[in-house]
Amino acid sequence: MNPDSIVPDVLPAVLLTGIEKSFGTGSSITRALRHTDFEARRGEMLFLVGPSGCGKTTLLSILAGTLRPDAGEVVVYGHDLHAASESERTAFRTRHLGFIFQQFNLIPSLSIVENVSVPLVIQGKKRREAEGRAADALDRVGLGDRLHERPGKLSGGQQQRVAIARALVHDPPLIVCDEPTSALDRENGRRVMEILRDAADERGRTVIIVTHDPRIYSYADRMAEMEDGRISRLLDSPAAIATAHPDT
Ligand SMILES: Nc1ncnc2c1ncn2[C@@H]1O[C@H](COP(=O)(O)OP(=O)(O)OP(=O)(O)O)[C@@H](O)[C@H]1O
Ligand SMILES: [Mg+2]
Repeated sequence: MNPDSIVPDVLPAVLLTGIEKSFGTGSSITRALRHTDFEARRGEMLFLVGPSGCGKTTLLSILAGTLRPDAGEVVVYGHDLHAASESERTAFRTRHLGFIFQQFNLIPSLSIVENVSVPLVIQGKKRREAEGRAADALDRVGLGDRLHERPGKLSGGQQQRVAIARALVHDPPLIVCDEPTSALDRENGRRVMEILRDAADERGRTVIIVTHDPRIYSYADRMAEMEDGRISRLLDSPAAIATAHPDT
């Protein structure tokens, strides 16, 4: 699939406008997103940072189409996800999205090569082809010798790399990562960031990363800082990020 054929280049990859999202009711209501605007450009690596509870995962879930906002516009690669039906949103995710969840969401009863094959199987690929591509993706994250193990036998960092392989195996135009390096040591964190950086630079993929990890800030093209349910500041270049976060 060529993502560039889907919509003209002038449109951003992701455009969220006036997003409202609350959880709970009455006195226990939490306003997770407060009239939030957010944009990601095609082919960029955009970081989303902010304190725990400020709404980062909620924002990612909305742009991934797994959570509906209470109000606002959600347009992702030209698709209006707010207006879309449940089945249209599922079809959108299958084709366009690789998602690395904060909790890795691996299927415990499947081997890791089967886990990584899932997005391809859903797309209708034959099992043999799917597992071949899954094995390649696992090899790239350094797990080529563990293909037939169950996730429960792996460390947290290894499971995280399986989740990353699964998000990339079908080469989606939009890759969304919630804390992709949180369980990784420096070397594996660097390896994963290089893979994601290549996806953006060489394949024009849009990569959105939520992180608390200052060790990886230097990989970002732009950074959106979030506070209390809104984007509080946008750092529009690597130089602006380096100036705002001099210790990274
Ligand atoms: N399913 C839910 N039910 C109730 N409240 C929720 C739910 N999901 C999120 N919230 C609340 O919404 C707010 C934003 O949560 P969110 O998970 O988006 O934060 P976050 O920025 O991702 O935090 P962290 O860095 O800890 O992952 C929090 O106050 C959280 O308690
Ligand atoms: Mg979160």
